[in-house]
Amino acid sequence: KILILDFGSQVTQLIARRVREAHVYCEVHPCDVTDAWVREFAADGMLKGVILSGSHASVYEDTTDKAPRAVFELGIPVLGICYGMQTMAHQLGGKVESGHQREFGFAAVRARGHTALLQDIADFTTQDGHGMLNVWMSHGDKVTELPPGFKIMASTDSCPIAGMADEARGFYAVQFHPEVTHTQQGKAILDRFVLGICQVTPDWVMRDHVAEAVALIREQVGDEEVILGLSGGVDSSVAAALIHRAIGDQLTCVFVDHGLLRLNEGDMVMEMFVGKLHAKVIRVDAAELFLGKLAGVSDPEAKRKVIGGEFVTVFKQEAAKLKASAAGRLGVDGLPSVKGAKWLAQGTIYPDVIESGGAKSKKAVTIKSHHNVGGLPEQLGLKLLEPLRDLFKDEVRELGVALGLPPEMVYRHPFPGPGLGVRILGEVKQEYADLLRRADAIFIEELRNCIDPATNKSWYELTSQAFTVFLPVKSVGVMGDGRTYDYVVALRAVQTSDFMTADWAELPYALLKKVSGRIINEVRGINRVTYDVSSKPPATIEWE
Ligand code: XMP
Repeated sequence: KILILDFGSQVTQLIARRVREAHVYCEVHPCDVTDAWVREFAADGMLKGVILSGSHASVYEDTTDKAPRAVFELGIPVLGICYGMQTMAHQLGGKVESGHQREFGFAAVRARGHTALLQDIADFTTQDGHGMLNVWMSHGDKVTELPPGFKIMASTDSCPIAGMADEARGFYAVQFHPEVTHTQQGKAILDRFVLGICQVTPDWVMRDHVAEAVALIREQVGDEEVILGLSGGVDSSVAAALIHRAIGDQLTCVFVDHGLLRLNEGDMVMEMFVGKLHAKVIRVDAAELFLGKLAGVSDPEAKRKVIGGEFVTVFKQEAAKLKASAAGRLGVDGLPSVKGAKWLAQGTIYPDVIESGGAKSKKAVTIKSHHNVGGLPEQLGLKLLEPLRDLFKDEVRELGVALGLPPEMVYRHPFPGPGLGVRILGEVKQEYADLLRRADAIFIEELRNCIDPATNKSWYELTSQAFTVFLPVKSVGVMGDGRTYDYVVALRAVQTSDFMTADWAELPYALLKKVSGRIINEVRGINRVTYDVSSKPPATIEWE
């Protein structure tokens, strides 16, 4: 195993991710663990290397953030990254100075190929035969004097010691960030450290993560009860399946069906979790309640607020009831007691954690507050259980498959918390939601059925998000001998890697033709289908 000591960089989890990608088990712990803790952690002889992360701090400003001394005394390789390099230099007798020039962004680093870490790894070679690496730098301070025993491993014009190594002791350090994808050879460098220098056998797979996570949940929760808000989305589903695997009936899921889900979605969630996994799920059919609250509301943000607010209210009521029934009595003031369940579980994943730490756009805040029911644990007096906190989306999906969830569910396109509420323009009505659900199901079915011969993938897989939008306007059509005067839907399909920008997908005409024909013939009440050819920006992916 590999130990990653976290000095507080935003990208520490990326180091962990790269190590996991190399099929090596790792754990991230705060940098201020004690020497005794480190020795205990290494006591089973399985610890093969340590990585010291970056930080936003400076060795000067905060001299308290040091690596535990024991790290350098275990006789195993250590890799320092950015601040990790500076603290290594500082602690082992070198010198670090505040950089006169701050370096942020891309840099070309001359790599001295004579170290085991960088040997034969380069993006290009200069005329005089130097291997060069295109890397991502972000630092203010720099090492100005090598600690005894070290040699220079890499350099740039403004940072002569951009990498250093004491190969006899297995200590390596780089000033740049190999964990980010901007550093093109970053993965190769981390693989070299973990597999080549630390010589860990790459046999860890996501399946192993299940056992580890299960053990951790059992240890955290003991015999206490847990409540989880199940939305049917990927994150909450995987969290539910994982926690259920760990503690079985100590978990109760509350599934608030706001009536704005996709066709048969509610039943599918119940079938999966109750029918197959035998989990305890309380389904709250709140469609009428939500539609009632939404009557007369047509402003998109106002709609979001109603849905998000109501969702929290309903969930809180259910959670409180659950606790009251578990405790078998009412609490002070006749309100349901909160003595039963002790934990609230959430499917928070690592990008959510980063997002809530940094500055966010208003929209991100909205997304968040619906998604992870912010503030709820405090209000309910519950402890927070977040077993997916360290994982990235694709890892969560892999974990879901390892837990036996169907791939169609785990690899589903994202679906917004307010559901069809933001896909029915203006006021939401039951009639509109019913028409939209049926049209959308046809679109998705045809996307799944249509295979692109060039890639052998379905158009559902080739798009990042695809759905139907209901336009509450009527247009004239002709069907058989009669005139129709019915509603319009728009099909939307986009390709994107991060959902911040997106291109409309160039779906085959034959596919569009089939979808349009089926919707107009099968969904009475819709007589016109359009395709949205706007990219983001300036349009957004959703229409509201
Ligand atoms: P836009 O429309 O801003 O959407 O291009 C980007 C991504 O965010 C999703 N989205 C939401 N998700 N609550 C959510 O949980 C929301 O209020 C919300 N609004 C947009 C959208 O589906 C797309 O994936």
